[in-house]
Amino acid sequence: MQFAGKVALITGGASGIGRETAVLFGREGAVVVVSDILVQEGEETVELVRAVGGSATFVHCDVRNRAEVEFLVSRTVALYGSLDCAFNNAGVEGRMAALPEYEEDEWDSIIDTNLKGVWLCMKYEIPQMLKQGGGSIVNAASAGGLVGLTNLGPYCASKGGVVQLTRTAAVDYARYNIRINAVCPGGIVTDMTLRLRQYPQMKRMPKAPIARSGEVKEVAGAVLWLSSEAASYVNGICLPVDGAYTAF
Ligand code: NAI
Repeated sequence: MQFAGKVALITGGASGIGRETAVLFGREGAVVVVSDILVQEGEETVELVRAVGGSATFVHCDVRNRAEVEFLVSRTVALYGSLDCAFNNAGVEGRMAALPEYEEDEWDSIIDTNLKGVWLCMKYEIPQMLKQGGGSIVNAASAGGLVGLTNLGPYCASKGGVVQLTRTAAVDYARYNIRINAVCPGGIVTDMTLRLRQYPQMKRMPKAPIARSGEVKEVAGAVLWLSSEAASYVNGICLPVDGAYTAF
């Protein structure tokens, strides 16, 4: 129960890594605000958190929309009084294609969700954490933010942006007791990777040295650790959780 009395906010909490992290936060005693554009699946995550003895609420938010993100943070604080841990996890992969083949609206949608969405979340989370004297933010980057992945240009560009945004934010707010880190997962079994596996280009993707896919609990565990007191001097890192994929 290392998060007893803490309030944790998770975007993209209706599925995959976000859902598992919500359940783990709930099991460890945090009150969890689950957010997503998918209402029914988000409510299902809330039920899963309650099933392990935790407390949770769903708040709808499209992270591309400034006003909705502002509402999400203010609603969290209105409901529970603070925002101690944020996991800015909502993301989309887009299509696998050569760079010239992407349409402008596809580029915009990936960058708006994965990069602008993380900035918008921090835009409202940081002032709240300053007000209350500290907090922890973990952003969802990717192994694709550290190395290139074939035919995933906009996705990798967005995640590389998250890496640099995370480092910059950590540098600026470390002195205010706010820790800002990122996780960089490799191939984790979720709906996102199932969608990507339909592309023949995936066969050209190198395999991780660990020779298996990751599980959502293996990323959730890293997010919990980064958010915890055990990581009190860990700030501004982009932690690969990738079975040595980026160690090549
Ligand atoms: P997922 O597709 O299972 O879950 C993503 C969630 O984000 C969904 O619930 C979706 O509805 C939500 N979402 C999408 N657009 C949104 C928006 N505009 N506003 C709010 N919510 C939105 O994917 P997964 O695998 O759980 O991914 C979670 C994060 O981890 C993403 O940022 C992804 O890029 C990152 N990641 C995943 C990897 C993997 O292998 N699964 C590898 C590296 C990074």
